[in-house]
Amino acid sequence: MSAHGYGQQHQHGQQQDGQHRHVQGHVQGHGHVPAADLDWDALAAHLEREADLRAGAVTAAGQWLSGLAGEGAVRRVLDVGAGPGVIAGLLAEVFPAAEVVAVDQSAALLERARARSGGRVGTQQADLPEEFDKLGEADLIWSGNAIHHLGDQQAALTALAGRLRPGGLLAVAESGLPPRFLPRDFGLGRPGFQARLDAAHEDGFAAMRAELPGTTEEIEDWPAMLRRAGLVPSGTRTFLVDHPAPLAPSVREYLHTQLVRRHDQLAEVLGPEDRATLEALIDRDGGTGILRRGDAFYLSAMTVHSGRRG
Ligand SMILES: C[S@@+](CC[C@H](N)C(=O)[O-])C[C@H]1O[C@@H](n2cnc3c(N)ncnc32)[C@H](O)[C@@H]1O
Repeated sequence: MSAHGYGQQHQHGQQQDGQHRHVQGHVQGHGHVPAADLDWDALAAHLEREADLRAGAVTAAGQWLSGLAGEGAVRRVLDVGAGPGVIAGLLAEVFPAAEVVAVDQSAALLERARARSGGRVGTQQADLPEEFDKLGEADLIWSGNAIHHLGDQQAALTALAGRLRPGGLLAVAESGLPPRFLPRDFGLGRPGFQARLDAAHEDGFAAMRAELPGTTEEIEDWPAMLRRAGLVPSGTRTFLVDHPAPLAPSVREYLHTQLVRRHDQLAEVLGPEDRATLEALIDRDGGTGILRRGDAFYLSAMTVHSGRRG
């Protein structure tokens, strides 16, 4: 349950021919899933909480990448689609001698990145895919949960690979496992609620991608995509994100916001029983709500695919 919404913010027009199919223009009418426009700026605090949840996993991933790169090899790091810069800040700790730059379309999120890091993290506003040229060169490019917001994911990887210095690494954190946050049977509705919510979310996610400008269907085999981008795959690793019960208030707030978003996006497509369960979970005051339950936890996994420029 990463911080995606469904819908789009920009009007990008890039269409590129490659080993994949294009869907021309915008696909309209995805049936029942509402295509709410994403307002990334409004999501700033939520994105920060989500990234905080993954801090341990990101640091471990950074250390793995540091070992792959070799000592002293990383002088410039880009975090592409960095949002409010929590992860860029963690990468700056793993690579203390490197210049670290958060890249995002949102000037407001980049301002938070700058403030949070006390200026340690630099920023570059860039509207992708049009402005890949603004990024400059790097020894390590990290991109987490951002490539899937671009219509042509393969073209995006190829453009990022083109920003790498010789021997440089591209690390893409996409996929992994959807979070679990309650026991199988948590006393509301029919067991299996979280799997059904995930299934409805997958449909919404596919509808979001279908509406992106220049959207291109892709088999999301990330190591193969890195290879097609001209890189040599240098390993895929998965990092556990494990917050057992009892949850800290900030994690409960994260889950509450995420469930409210799922309600906004999916209430119409869920059956009445699951809708009632979701409503009980987002009730701020009731003992059934995610803010108060003793059985709530947060368990997920973040997968990072890496490739090296020869
Ligand atoms: C789900 S957030 C991920 C934030 C961060 N990487 C993380 O993992 O916590 C996606 C980010 O991608 C940015 N983004 C989406 N579309 C973009 C585009 N076309 N160009 C540049 N940034 C974009 C959004 O502003 C947002 O900050």
